[in-house]
Amino acid sequence: MPTHTKSAEGATVRAPTSSYRPGTGRPRADEMDRLDRQAQLTFDVELGLLREGGLRTDGTLLDLGSGNGAITTRLRERLPEATVVGVDVDPELLALVPAPSLLIEDGRIPVEDESVDDVLVRFVAQHLTPAARLDLWTEVLRVLAPGGRVHVVDVDDTASGVTTPLQPGLAPIFAKLHHAQAADGGDRMVIGKVAPELEAVGFVHAQQVRDAVSSSERPIEDFAVHVGPERHVPHVSTGVLSLADLAAITRGWQAILADPAGSVCVYVHLVRASKPGPVSMGSAPTTEGEAP
Ligand SMILES: C[S@@+](CC[C@H](N)C(=O)[O-])C[C@H]1O[C@@H](n2cnc3c(N)ncnc32)[C@H](O)[C@@H]1O
Repeated sequence: MPTHTKSAEGATVRAPTSSYRPGTGRPRADEMDRLDRQAQLTFDVELGLLREGGLRTDGTLLDLGSGNGAITTRLRERLPEATVVGVDVDPELLALVPAPSLLIEDGRIPVEDESVDDVLVRFVAQHLTPAARLDLWTEVLRVLAPGGRVHVVDVDDTASGVTTPLQPGLAPIFAKLHHAQAADGGDRMVIGKVAPELEAVGFVHAQQVRDAVSSSERPIEDFAVHVGPERHVPHVSTGVLSLADLAAITRGWQAILADPAGSVCVYVHLVRASKPGPVSMGSAPTTEGEAP
């Protein structure tokens, strides 16, 4: 649960807590590699959704909860005119993100009010309690310029994707993961809660959208990061899953790989919303000679 501390000014603020513990159950380097492969798999689709949501491509974009910078660095490559800033509560992770990066202390994003065009919050909300999420959305609203946008990418375990062959026998195993993350303050069905939460703190036009990446577009082995057994090894170390569970997940993945019709489709869920105010037109496509 969140703890409270005194800020330098003496105000009581909520210290950020989260169910994300990158060093638990496996070498940190393996977890960094997982984050990178996960980003690689769906980044193009996510960038498409960001653009569709009016992302200002020449503005200031915070990658809030940037982790090791897997997405931050890709955004910088693809949006050379934007200023993409990695922001996180974890100084060890933030040290892996090339500058510019900013450390959140005492729940405060260290930028001025209304100084940011867009904020991406990717795979962070699922690790936060409802109270911590509200604090985060309120802080995002503070830093966004009028008309600025927040883009939240996160999970819905009831619609994470589909495989051929189907794997209904794994449902009770994934339910254990769901309950373990919930017991730790997280929520693996968080995305459906985000739009009303954003509107409750003052955002407008909240909208949930979905896109997909499938093995018809890229090698099926790339999906191991989501569907394969490797990401569950830490859950055995922490006692959430048994070795028998891991073996069942492994057999399921091997069945997909062995099936001539085997396939994987992973859904990307995104919620976008705006801060009230004039819509920033920086995202509109401009042609040469046109005012931006
Ligand atoms: C699963 S990682 C996701 C990293 C990155 N966004 C990605 O998609 O690869 C979750 C990240 O959220 C960060 N985090 C946790 N609580 C946070 C908070 N209250 N504010 C900002 N970041 C937070 C963690 O330190 C971690 O880097």
